[in-house]
Amino acid sequence: MNEIDKHIILIGFMGTGKTTIGFKLANHLERNFIDIDKEIELKEKLSINEIFSSKGENYFRQVETDVLNRVTNCNMPSVISTGGGIILTEENRSAMNNSLVILLTAAPETIYNRIKEDSSRPLLNDKNNLLSQISTILEQRERIYKEISDYIIDTERKDVNETVSLILKYIKERE
Ligand code: S3P
Repeated sequence: MNEIDKHIILIGFMGTGKTTIGFKLANHLERNFIDIDKEIELKEKLSINEIFSSKGENYFRQVETDVLNRVTNCNMPSVISTGGGIILTEENRSAMNNSLVILLTAAPETIYNRIKEDSSRPLLNDKNNLLSQISTILEQRERIYKEISDYIIDTERKDVNETVSLILKYIKERE
Protein backbone atom coordinates (compact mmCIF):
# COMPACT_ATOMS: atom_id res chain seq x y z
CA MET A 1 0.00 0.00 0.00
CA ASN A 2 1.25 3.49 -0.89
CA GLU A 3 2.16 5.62 2.12
CA ILE A 4 -0.05 8.41 0.83
CA ASP A 5 -3.11 6.13 0.85
CA LYS A 6 -2.72 5.13 4.48
CA HIS A 7 -4.77 6.39 7.37
CA ILE A 8 -2.83 8.27 10.02
CA ILE A 9 -3.79 6.95 13.45
CA LEU A 10 -2.86 8.78 16.64
CA ILE A 11 -2.44 6.58 19.68
CA GLY A 12 -1.29 7.28 23.23
CA PHE A 13 -2.39 7.60 26.82
CA MET A 14 -5.29 9.79 27.92
CA GLY A 15 -4.29 13.44 27.96
CA THR A 16 -1.52 13.26 25.38
CA GLY A 17 -3.42 15.50 22.96
CA LYS A 18 -4.53 12.98 20.31
CA THR A 19 -7.82 14.74 19.52
CA THR A 20 -6.49 18.31 19.42
CA ILE A 21 -3.45 17.34 17.37
CA GLY A 22 -5.41 15.02 15.08
CA PHE A 23 -7.92 17.76 14.28
CA LYS A 24 -5.17 20.24 13.34
CA LEU A 25 -3.20 17.66 11.41
CA ALA A 26 -6.27 16.71 9.37
CA ASN A 27 -6.84 20.38 8.51
CA HIS A 28 -3.26 20.75 7.32
CA LEU A 29 -3.46 17.61 5.21
CA GLU A 30 -7.00 18.42 4.02
CA ARG A 31 -8.12 15.01 5.18
CA ASN A 32 -11.21 13.83 6.97
CA PHE A 33 -10.81 13.77 10.80
CA ILE A 34 -12.35 10.95 12.82
CA ASP A 35 -12.30 10.78 16.61
CA ILE A 36 -13.16 7.22 17.65
CA ASP A 37 -14.52 8.23 21.09
CA LYS A 38 -16.81 10.81 19.44
CA GLU A 39 -18.02 8.18 16.96
CA ILE A 40 -18.79 5.81 19.84
CA GLU A 41 -20.76 8.51 21.64
CA LEU A 42 -22.74 9.33 18.50
CA LYS A 43 -23.46 5.67 17.80
CA GLU A 44 -24.57 4.92 21.36
CA LYS A 45 -26.18 8.32 21.99
CA LEU A 46 -24.43 8.28 25.38
CA SER A 47 -21.26 9.86 26.78
CA ILE A 48 -18.22 7.63 27.40
CA ASN A 49 -18.90 7.94 31.14
CA GLU A 50 -22.52 6.86 30.67
CA ILE A 51 -21.52 3.87 28.52
CA PHE A 52 -19.04 2.68 31.18
CA SER A 53 -21.52 3.13 34.02
CA SER A 54 -24.64 1.72 32.37
CA LYS A 55 -23.19 -0.96 30.08
CA GLY A 56 -19.71 -1.63 31.41
CA GLU A 57 -16.18 -1.48 30.02
CA ASN A 58 -16.47 -4.73 28.02
CA TYR A 59 -19.40 -3.33 26.09
CA PHE A 60 -17.47 -0.10 25.46
CA ARG A 61 -14.49 -2.11 24.16
CA GLN A 62 -16.72 -4.04 21.77
CA VAL A 63 -18.19 -0.85 20.31
CA GLU A 64 -14.68 0.64 20.15
CA THR A 65 -13.53 -2.35 18.07
CA ASP A 66 -16.57 -2.14 15.77
CA VAL A 67 -15.98 1.57 15.15
CA LEU A 68 -12.24 1.07 14.60
CA ASN A 69 -12.92 -1.66 12.03
CA ARG A 70 -15.47 0.50 10.27
CA VAL A 71 -13.26 3.58 10.00
CA THR A 72 -10.06 1.74 9.06
CA ASN A 73 -11.93 -0.15 6.33
CA CYS A 74 -12.97 3.09 4.70
CA ASN A 75 -10.89 3.77 1.54
CA MET A 76 -10.52 7.51 1.90
CA PRO A 77 -7.30 8.10 3.90
CA SER A 78 -8.21 9.93 7.12
CA VAL A 79 -6.62 11.18 10.31
CA ILE A 80 -8.00 9.06 13.17
CA SER A 81 -7.60 9.81 16.86
CA THR A 82 -8.18 6.91 19.23
CA GLY A 83 -8.99 6.32 22.89
CA GLY A 84 -5.98 5.41 25.02
CA GLY A 85 -7.07 1.78 25.42
CA ILE A 86 -7.42 0.98 21.72
CA ILE A 87 -4.12 -0.90 21.75
CA LEU A 88 -5.30 -3.44 24.31
CA THR A 89 -6.57 -6.18 22.00
CA GLU A 90 -4.88 -8.09 19.20
CA GLU A 91 -7.92 -7.51 17.00
CA ASN A 92 -7.56 -3.72 17.32
CA ARG A 93 -3.81 -3.86 16.80
CA SER A 94 -4.19 -5.77 13.55
CA ALA A 95 -6.94 -3.41 12.38
CA MET A 96 -4.26 -0.69 12.53
CA ASN A 97 -1.67 -2.73 10.57
CA ASN A 98 -2.03 -0.91 7.27
CA SER A 99 -2.06 2.57 8.78
CA LEU A 100 0.65 4.95 9.82
CA VAL A 101 0.54 4.78 13.61
CA ILE A 102 1.86 7.78 15.54
CA LEU A 103 2.33 7.62 19.28
CA LEU A 104 2.09 10.74 21.45
CA THR A 105 3.74 10.46 24.85
CA ALA A 106 3.96 12.56 28.02
CA ALA A 107 5.21 11.99 31.56
CA PRO A 108 2.65 10.86 34.18
CA GLU A 109 2.99 14.21 36.01
CA THR A 110 2.21 16.13 32.82
CA ILE A 111 -0.77 13.90 32.07
CA TYR A 112 -1.93 14.42 35.66
CA ASN A 113 -1.75 18.21 35.31
CA ARG A 114 -3.60 18.14 32.00
CA ILE A 115 -6.51 16.01 33.15
CA LYS A 116 -6.89 16.48 36.90
CA GLU A 117 -9.91 18.82 36.57
CA ASP A 118 -11.57 16.65 33.92
CA SER A 119 -14.09 14.04 35.01
CA SER A 120 -14.85 12.57 31.59
CA ARG A 121 -12.50 9.57 31.94
CA PRO A 122 -14.11 6.65 33.74
CA LEU A 123 -10.85 4.70 34.16
CA LEU A 124 -9.28 7.52 36.14
CA ASN A 125 -11.73 7.37 39.00
CA ASP A 126 -9.39 7.40 42.00
CA LYS A 127 -9.29 11.14 42.48
CA ASN A 128 -7.22 10.88 45.69
CA ASN A 129 -4.52 8.80 44.01
CA LEU A 130 -4.82 10.04 40.48
CA LEU A 131 -1.10 10.32 39.75
CA SER A 132 -0.36 6.79 40.86
CA GLN A 133 -3.38 5.48 38.96
CA ILE A 134 -2.07 7.16 35.81
CA SER A 135 1.44 5.74 36.37
CA THR A 136 0.13 2.22 36.91
CA ILE A 137 -2.03 2.10 33.78
CA LEU A 138 0.68 3.79 31.72
CA GLU A 139 3.24 1.24 32.86
CA GLN A 140 0.91 -1.62 31.82
CA ARG A 141 0.50 -0.16 28.34
CA GLU A 142 3.81 1.52 27.55
CA ARG A 143 5.45 -1.45 25.85
CA ILE A 144 2.46 -2.07 23.56
CA TYR A 145 2.17 1.59 22.59
CA LYS A 146 5.82 1.60 21.53
CA GLU A 147 5.72 -1.77 19.82
CA ILE A 148 2.95 -0.88 17.39
CA SER A 149 3.93 2.68 16.53
CA ASP A 150 5.79 3.84 13.41
CA TYR A 151 6.77 7.19 14.91
CA ILE A 152 6.89 8.46 18.49
CA ILE A 153 6.58 12.07 19.59
CA ASP A 154 7.28 13.15 23.14
CA THR A 155 4.84 16.03 23.67
CA GLU A 156 6.63 17.33 26.77
CA ARG A 157 7.44 21.02 26.32
CA LYS A 158 5.96 21.06 22.82
CA ASP A 159 2.87 22.99 21.88
CA VAL A 160 0.24 21.65 19.50
CA ASN A 161 1.73 23.42 16.45
CA GLU A 162 5.21 22.02 17.08
CA THR A 163 3.85 18.50 17.37
CA VAL A 164 1.77 18.88 14.20
CA SER A 165 4.83 20.22 12.33
CA LEU A 166 6.89 17.22 13.40
CA ILE A 167 4.22 14.84 12.11
CA LEU A 168 3.95 16.73 8.81
CA LYS A 169 7.73 16.58 8.40
CA TYR A 170 7.74 12.87 9.12
CA ILE A 171 5.01 12.24 6.55
CA LYS A 172 6.76 14.37 3.90
CA GLU A 173 9.98 12.41 4.37
CA ARG A 174 8.15 9.17 3.72
CA GLU A 175 6.37 10.30 0.55
C1 S3P B 1 -9.62 5.21 27.63
C2 S3P B 1 -9.35 6.43 27.08
C3 S3P B 1 -10.39 7.40 26.73
C4 S3P B 1 -11.71 6.67 26.42
C5 S3P B 1 -12.09 5.77 27.54
C6 S3P B 1 -11.02 4.71 27.83
C7 S3P B 1 -8.50 4.30 27.99
O1 S3P B 1 -9.99 8.17 25.59
O2 S3P B 1 -11.58 5.93 25.22
O3 S3P B 1 -12.31 6.56 28.66
O4 S3P B 1 -8.71 3.10 28.19
O5 S3P B 1 -7.33 4.81 28.05
P1 S3P B 1 -8.84 9.31 25.63
O6 S3P B 1 -7.53 8.62 25.50
O7 S3P B 1 -9.16 10.15 24.44
O8 S3P B 1 -9.01 10.04 26.91
